[in-house]
Amino acid sequence: MKTLILGGAGFIGLHLARNLLADGHRVTIADDFSRGRDDPALASVDAEVLHADLTRPDGFRDLPHGWDQVYLLAAVVGVRNVERDPARVVRVNSLVVLNTLDWIRPGERLFFASTSEVYAGGVSAGTVPVPTPENVPLTVRDVTAPRFAYGVSKMLGEAAVVHTARARGFPCVIGRFHNVYGPRMGESHVIPEVALRALRGEDPFWVYGAEQSRAFCHVDDAVDAIRRLMVPGVAEGRIVHIGNDGEETNIGDLTKLVLRVVGHDPGITYAPAPAGSVARRCPDLRLLRSLTGYEPAVRLEDGVRNTVAWYAGDRTAAPG
Ligand SMILES: NC(=O)c1ccc[n+]([C@@H]2O[C@H](COP(=O)([O-])OP(=O)(O)OC[C@H]3O[C@@H](n4cnc5c(N)ncnc54)[C@H](O)[C@@H]3O)[C@@H](O)[C@H]2O)c1
Repeated sequence: MKTLILGGAGFIGLHLARNLLADGHRVTIADDFSRGRDDPALASVDAEVLHADLTRPDGFRDLPHGWDQVYLLAAVVGVRNVERDPARVVRVNSLVVLNTLDWIRPGERLFFASTSEVYAGGVSAGTVPVPTPENVPLTVRDVTAPRFAYGVSKMLGEAAVVHTARARGFPCVIGRFHNVYGPRMGESHVIPEVALRALRGEDPFWVYGAEQSRAFCHVDDAVDAIRRLMVPGVAEGRIVHIGNDGEETNIGDLTKLVLRVVGHDPGITYAPAPAGSVARRCPDLRLLRSLTGYEPAVRLEDGVRNTVAWYAGDRTAAPG
């Protein structure tokens, strides 16, 4: 299989690349390295790695065709980026998907990475259930609020992928990721952020939004779900959740788990959740299960151990 991963130098992309390579795929990664390039994990992967700014049509100029699979993971992600520069989030995430759709050819199977953030408005308004299925109406409570820039950019991406794939007759799958975590996920997500503060010995230890509830999915499980969804005939043109509904936890308990894994026993000080973050997030995975037979396999404690080990400096903890 010839496989192209757009945004493949990122967190999910590199885990996916390793998994595909281990399965005999020939893998090419295209990325602008805006998340960083100075990374031994990237150098160690046995894939062709190309520099490409995918917001520019000429960023695709050096990319050949004839791919069996194309994974579109490139995006500006993370709450900090969204709050600091929502205009960049909208611009990059929209242009990357529109340029990909102008470039892709029939026969090249496309996976598009979307997000549970598309539900943020509905969950906050109490108009959608949690666990949330894929088919609820999506609500944008305030299109001018920076917080919605990311979700809106992904809604546009979903619509663009579905309509273009129908019009031009290429196969596509959209995965809505829910709180994927693991080694090398950056520093601005809750698990590495708590782990790094614990490893530095912070005391008293601040916990923000302890009562907020999340369902975390280890990246190995997310990659397994992606691979299952991309099998021809399984999920053509579908929008499907990718996550783990098995061990929903609140941020207070998650913090205690990370502290236990790190071996740090500080006094805890509680503070409110960051503004705008939803009180609860959990995917309904019935569609993913019925289409693919997927079951998450990594227990939260094992995944947290694996992730903390990587942030503590054990790079062999990176799976794949
Ligand atoms: N990690 C999660 O829990 C999660 C949750 C929901 C959705 N997603 C989606 O999954 C995808 C992958 O997420 P991730 O966590 O691996 O993020 P990431 O930031 O680690 O990876 C994104 C990659 O895209 C690249 N990129 C950004 N702009 C680019 C451009 N103009 N041209 C080329 N490359 C560019 C970055 O350099 C980076 O390597 C994203 O589309 C994200 O929106 C992730």
